[in-house]
This record gives sequence, C-alpha cells and structure tokens, in this order.
Amino acid sequence: MKEAAKYIIKVDAELKDGVIVPEIPYEEVMRLVNEPNIVIVKTGIPAEKLTKVIEGTRAWAAETPLAEGPDTFDNNQHKQRLHIAKIQQAPQLFHDHTFDAMLDLDDEFKQTLLEVFNPMRGFWNNLTGNNEEFGIHKGAPYFHPQVTHYPLGGSFFGRHWHPLNPQKVGMILALNQYGREYNSGGTGYVINDHIVETEGYQDMGDMILFRYDLPHWVSPSSFADRFSWDDPAGRWVSILPFYNPWGTPAAKDEPQGWKTQIQNAKAATSEAAV
Ligand SMILES: [Fe+2]
Repeated sequence: MKEAAKYIIKVDAELKDGVIVPEIPYEEVMRLVNEPNIVIVKTGIPAEKLTKVIEGTRAWAAETPLAEGPDTFDNNQHKQRLHIAKIQQAPQLFHDHTFDAMLDLDDEFKQTLLEVFNPMRGFWNNLTGNNEEFGIHKGAPYFHPQVTHYPLGGSFFGRHWHPLNPQKVGMILALNQYGREYNSGGTGYVINDHIVETEGYQDMGDMILFRYDLPHWVSPSSFADRFSWDDPAGRWVSILPFYNPWGTPAAKDEPQGWKTQIQNAKAATSEAAV
C-alpha cells in the first residue's frame, strides 16, 4: 500500500481462484475509502481477460442494434449517450453497454464477461458485507454490469453524484492501458474541496474504489483527436453499479453527503464518549 498522490492510495492485490485478495484486510480498504480517499487496487486480473472483454463487447455490439428508447434495466443493450441528465444536469458523451441480463447471453461471451465481472462482484461483496448474485430482481437493488467506451476526440462525463447506499463503494476497472491505447481522460473527484484527478494513475487491470456519494466526473479525451463512434480506440472501463432502478433517484442538490455524514459520525462518537 502506498500514497501515490494526495488522497490517492494504491493497494496491491492478487487474483486467487477468481477472488481479488488485497494486501490489507477488506475492512481496512473500506476504511480508506470512507475516510475518504480514492483507492486504486491492482487486481491482478490477467491482461488477456481484460482485452477479451473489450473484443467480445465490440463483437456483440456489432450485431446488436443500438438501443434508442428509455432504459428498461432488464435486458442487454448498448447506447451512444449524448445528453444532459435531467435532474443533475450532468452532460455526457460515451458509448455504454449494459448487461443487466448477462446470464441470458450466449455461453462464450457470458464466460468472457464473468471472468472479469465475477471477481468484481466478489470483491464488492467482500468490501460491503453482501452476498449478492447476478440477475434481475424487480423492486430491489441488483447489479447492472456495464462496459463503457470513451471514444477519442471529446468523450466525457460531467460532474455528478449518487446516493451512498446501497452501493457504498463505486468501482471502475481499467480494461486498457493509459499512455498506450489512449492518452487522455480519467475519473476525477472532489475530496475536502480538493480536486483529485486520477488520469495517469490507473493502469490496465487497476480498479478505482470511491465513496459513492463523492462528486465525480470523467475528464475529456483530447479534442486534438478525431471523434468517431465507430473507432474502438480510446478508454474502456467496466463498472458494476448496484441499485434499484425504480427506487428514489439521487437528490437534486449535490450532497457532499460524506462531509455531513462524517461530521455526524464524529458528533455521535463524541456524544457517546461523554
Ligand atoms: Fe458516477
């Protein structure tokens, strides 16, 4: 474990029988996340498995028409997002592939995805004390596995936030290599009024962990490159959101929730001490 920059902590890990085992206990990882810090875990997932996810996703997308209507959260779909989120007013431009019905995919592609999403799921369960499986559970929170492509030439995701629960810790796994396959763009955060940019700190196979209610964004890919939806160049990540799509959306006001909650926790601790 080492501090790579202010509020950025790198944690080593090993992949043992499909389980990401960090060099420090899971509770310690969560303590660092909640402090809050951005924790970057070197997952040890082999590069060829990450590359296969990109290739498999591209092949699947090539034969699957783009989704156009409102998201139904019960299928496998991909969409070219270019819009401003209604409530949070966060602008976005990226291509996402959501596999809510991952278990219905053909065996080969499903296995490709599971080689990466199963370690992520297990890690999240171990961090949060859950024991959740993949699958759609209407009326309850469930996993929404996603592979996101940020094309060259101006893709990005504006500053936004999420409710802390039930996700608690957000995870962003890098499927390709900064400095080799793309040269700009990364996730940024605000911690204690300090801007934390992780661009350049996350290698292929590294997974960023962040307190889910921290304001965050994805910095743009360079406008010096030509933009094309069809060019697979650029940054690819996988994420594993866990929420009830029909539940209460995030509040309109930016929460800085962790700030209030940490203050509340301190107040509660000192009250308890009296
Ligand atoms: Fe987000």
